Amino acid sequence: MTNELEEAPLSTTAERRAVTSVSGVTPGQEWAIVARGLKREYDMGGEIVRALRGVDLAVRRNEYVAIMGPSGSGKSTLMNLIGCLDTPDAGEYWLNGQLVSGMSDDALAHVRNKEIGFVFQTFNLLPRSTALQNVELPLVYAGVSGDERRQRATEALESVELGSRLDHRPNELSGGQRQRVAIARALVNRPAILLADEPTGNLDSRTSEDIMRVFSGLSDHGQTVIMVTHEPDIAAHARRVIVLRDGLVETDERRENFHERLSAFGSSVVG
Ligand SMILES: Nc1ncnc2c1ncn2[C@@H]1O[C@H](COP(=O)(O)OP(=O)(O)O)[C@@H](O)[C@H]1O
Ligand SMILES: [Mg+2]
Repeated sequence: MTNELEEAPLSTTAERRAVTSVSGVTPGQEWAIVARGLKREYDMGGEIVRALRGVDLAVRRNEYVAIMGPSGSGKSTLMNLIGCLDTPDAGEYWLNGQLVSGMSDDALAHVRNKEIGFVFQTFNLLPRSTALQNVELPLVYAGVSGDERRQRATEALESVELGSRLDHRPNELSGGQRQRVAIARALVNRPAILLADEPTGNLDSRTSEDIMRVFSGLSDHGQTVIMVTHEPDIAAHARRVIVLRDGLVETDERRENFHERLSAFGSSVVG
């Protein structure tokens, strides 16, 4: 048992215990995500690509995590598993106390709609719909009535400081504003986890900083955030950075107060 504990490069003893405790045991309530030995292989016409080779990961509620790593290290494969878009070939994945690995596609889709908000590099907004309509869409699927839909979508847009842009279409918004609409859409169902895959990949550095301020604010208000990025200065906004290499966790580090130090530095430079 002691040897197993030493293998996983996890931040704290509690995390090691959450991940390496006996398989099948439901993690405690403080854990948004517990993954034990996740494996995912792709069969490329007889050649097996081992995209994830046994990833151990435990993320507490309210954590703000960046996942980094070179191209091909397994970041997107891991995000697809965390986001319930795919299931592992081996290992366990617990999301919010539910064992997700091994679920049927229908059950998986249900958990995904309820627990996960996605933000993508390419925004993925409906071009002919207003900001409000775009943000209302997940609530339409969830069967929420018209009045409540409008109210909740308006609140979500206000929370990303777009309360004055409700009736604008995507082509009437800047890139940063479009991404904020996408963030509002991801949050409107009140998901357990906000997952972002390269959320600033299409934005200039100043706009990226604005988006990072939104994420930090969400994190300060208790939202669990997991984002993939290959940009170190974007990852620096997270409180914890996990680096993947060859389908395994290479390092997993907390940077307590890193954001505060960074913003203090930023304001002293700007102001
Ligand atoms: N659908 C797929 N079919 C076959 N191989 C894949 C597929 N998706 C990813 N891979 C392979 O799995 C490995 C990890 O890929 P990926 O998770 O996309 O890495 P990253 O996002 O870090 O660049 C790579 O070798 C990639 O070529
Ligand atoms: Mg990728």
